[in-house]
Amino acid sequence: MEIQLWRKILDPYALAVDELVVKFNHCISEYRMMGEYSPIEQVNGRLKTISSILEKAQKKQVPLEEVEEKIEDIAGIRIICQFVEDIYTVVNIIRNRTDMRIKSEKDYVTNVKESGYRSYHIIIYYNVETSKGTKEIQAEIQIRTLAMNFWATIEHSLQYKYKKNMPDHIKERLSSAAEAIKTLDQEMGNIRTEIVDAQNDFKIKANMVADIFNNIQNLYRVLNRTEVLKIQEEFLDIYQSGDMIKLRELSKKIDHLSEHYNAQSLI
Ligand code: GTP
Ligand code: MG
Repeated sequence: MEIQLWRKILDPYALAVDELVVKFNHCISEYRMMGEYSPIEQVNGRLKTISSILEKAQKKQVPLEEVEEKIEDIAGIRIICQFVEDIYTVVNIIRNRTDMRIKSEKDYVTNVKESGYRSYHIIIYYNVETSKGTKEIQAEIQIRTLAMNFWATIEHSLQYKYKKNMPDHIKERLSSAAEAIKTLDQEMGNIRTEIVDAQNDFKIKANMVADIFNNIQNLYRVLNRTEVLKIQEEFLDIYQSGDMIKLRELSKKIDHLSEHYNAQSLI
C-alpha cells in the first residue's frame, strides 16, 4: 500500500479519537457541573502508530487490505476511574449511547488475564463524517481504575523491555503486584462513600471560595473600600477557622449583598 494512502486511511481514526476524547471529557464536566460525582476520572486517546499497525498485522497474519477490519484498536480510548464499581457505570453509559454501537466486550476485571492484567475492553463501531461522506470505524475503549492503570503501564514497559523473554522472577513479582493492586482496589472500594464524601466537601468548599472571591471583587465597584475590606477580613477569619457552616452563612450574606447592589444598578 502506498504511504500516501496510509495517511488517508488513518485520518478518520484520528478524528474519531479526538471526538471521543471530547465527548467523554464532556461527560466528566456534566457530572461536575451538577455537583455530582463523576464515574470517569480521566480520559486519554491515542492513534496507533503505523509501525505498531504493521507489527500487529504481521504478528496476526492480517493482509494489509484487511487491517481496518481486523485490527480493532487503530483508534484507542482509555477511560480511567477511581473505583472498580465506576467501571461498570461507565460500561452502562457506553451501552446506552446512540452514537456508538458495541461490537464486543471483554471483562478482564472479573476474568483476570494470566499476566495479572485487569481492565474492561469494549470494541465499538463509530461514525465519523469525512469529505467523502460517513465512515464507520472501529475503536477500542479500555476502562480501568487508577490502580489497574498503574500496574498495566509498568507491566507494559517491562514487556517491551524483555519482549517474549520476561524472566520468571519478574513475572512472579508482577503477578504478586497484581494481587496487591486488586487488594488495593477492594480496600478503596470499601471506603468509597467516605472518599467520595470528602472529595465532594472539598469541591463544595472550592466552589464556595470562588463565589465569595467573585462577589467581593464585584462589591469593590459598589461599596467603599473600607466596607469591602471588612468583609474580606471576616472571610479570612472564617476561612482560617475552617468552619464550613459559618463559611456558608458568609457566602449567602455576600451573595445577598451582591444581588442587592446588582438589582439597584439595574434600576
Ligand atoms: P491484541 O492483539 O493486543 O488486540 O489482543 P486481543 O485481540 O486478544 O485483545 P485484548 O483485549 O486481549 O488486548 C487488547 C489490548 O489490551 C492490548 O493491546 C493492550 O493494550 C491491553 N492488554 C491486554 N493484555 C495485556 C497485558 O497482559 N498487559 C498489559 N499491560 N496490557 C494488556
Ligand atoms: Mg484486540
